Amino acid sequence: MNKARECIGVVGIGYVGLVTATCLAELGNTVVCMDIDVEKIALLKKGGVPIYEPGLAELIGKNNGRMTFTTALEDVLRQCEIVFIAVDTPPTSTGDADLSRVFAVVSALPGLSSSHHVLVMKSTLPVGTGMKISVELARQEMNNIDYVSNPEFLREGSAIGDFLNPDRIIIGSREAAASHKVASLYRQISAPVLETGIPTAEMIKYASNAFLATKISFINEIANVCEEIGADVTEVARGMGYDKRIGSHFLNAGIGFGGSCFPKDVAALKQIAGNSGYHFQLLTAVIEVNELQKRRVVNKLKKHLGSLTDKTITLLGLAFKPNTNDLREASSIVLASRLLGDGAYVKAYDPVAIPDAARAVRGVLLCDDTLSAVEDSDAVVLVTEWEEFARLPLAEMKKRMRQHLIIDGRNFLDPAEVKSAGFTYEGIGRS
Ligand code: UDX
Repeated sequence: MNKARECIGVVGIGYVGLVTATCLAELGNTVVCMDIDVEKIALLKKGGVPIYEPGLAELIGKNNGRMTFTTALEDVLRQCEIVFIAVDTPPTSTGDADLSRVFAVVSALPGLSSSHHVLVMKSTLPVGTGMKISVELARQEMNNIDYVSNPEFLREGSAIGDFLNPDRIIIGSREAAASHKVASLYRQISAPVLETGIPTAEMIKYASNAFLATKISFINEIANVCEEIGADVTEVARGMGYDKRIGSHFLNAGIGFGGSCFPKDVAALKQIAGNSGYHFQLLTAVIEVNELQKRRVVNKLKKHLGSLTDKTITLLGLAFKPNTNDLREASSIVLASRLLGDGAYVKAYDPVAIPDAARAVRGVLLCDDTLSAVEDSDAVVLVTEWEEFARLPLAEMKKRMRQHLIIDGRNFLDPAEVKSAGFTYEGIGRS
């Protein structure tokens, strides 16, 4: 394989930064990883990995000769011409993205380096921000810095595969040479490369996530109608998915989307549109449908159990999706707080997210396994479709539970199998 061999800096070693840094090292580059979090950098220096992502620890181990870790931006700028920025841009209370971490890095550059750098933005910035940074750098006569937008499309749980085998690579810049330089980093990867302007690259990221979120809210509304008219949404989605114009992906009805990207990016795009004077009606509905979808599970429980006061409800799965310990915007958090608000006792088990859950779902009794979580429970809600829940010990669960109700929030279980084990089964949009 024709190895790249650049020295690349990655600033912001969160989820996106660490995956990006590791995959760039896997492509043969030397990577200097920088974060202001002293504990995180100390852990990485010792060979520890601060996040759970399948295959990541192994890939860091394999490439550790090419990866160094530092808390000093100077170390990055001294060694690397190409500098990726992957700091987080969390939503503010108004729905705007908080860009303070991005600007902290950009504004530190002039005093730290006079050599040439290509600044590659991985953080998701509101459309127009990259252009403002690029123009501001030019205004300050920082002609040694070229700005490139290179949005990420990494899914948690399959981020390494998504980086090394992407559907597309998007590069936005005002400088053709800088754009080509970034494109050349990906030359070992077989995927279409779209080199375009900065605002267009930024918009591709938002539009992609907003479209996928719209697909999910759409199928969730179809599921809700299916429940009323006696149709099965899983079959409906299968039938729709055969149409190549629609495609079969992202048509799984459930209890709503969560995670660090979709809720944030959909809200941010709605806000970006609003700030420019355009009311994005569709996205308003996408967000509202997603909120209502989480609450429908509570109504399903009440339909079968009556009042939830003093009932015990078990949540199986807490992470916003399988193969991650990430609880950000997870449906489990909203669900747990509504159940507690209705006077229920809530128990939960997640194969990976329990250590992180104590802070996120206060008041919930966290358990070590499925069977202890269902002990004396009146109902189980399957919240996250972890592979281990495909083989639930139904017979033993039946003995331990007080009442025998399973709400399958991800349409993950086989209804016939659950029913023949003596449970009442209810999915999402399955008649
Ligand atoms: C997403 C995008 O897919 C990725 O390209 C972007 O860069 C970051 O955001 P991620 O948040 O890791 O990735 O998760 P993803 O697999 O896309 O799922 C997001 C949410 O949608 C999850 O809560 C998932 O359970 C839900 N979902 C997904 C559905 O409810 N139904 C589906 O059919 C698909």
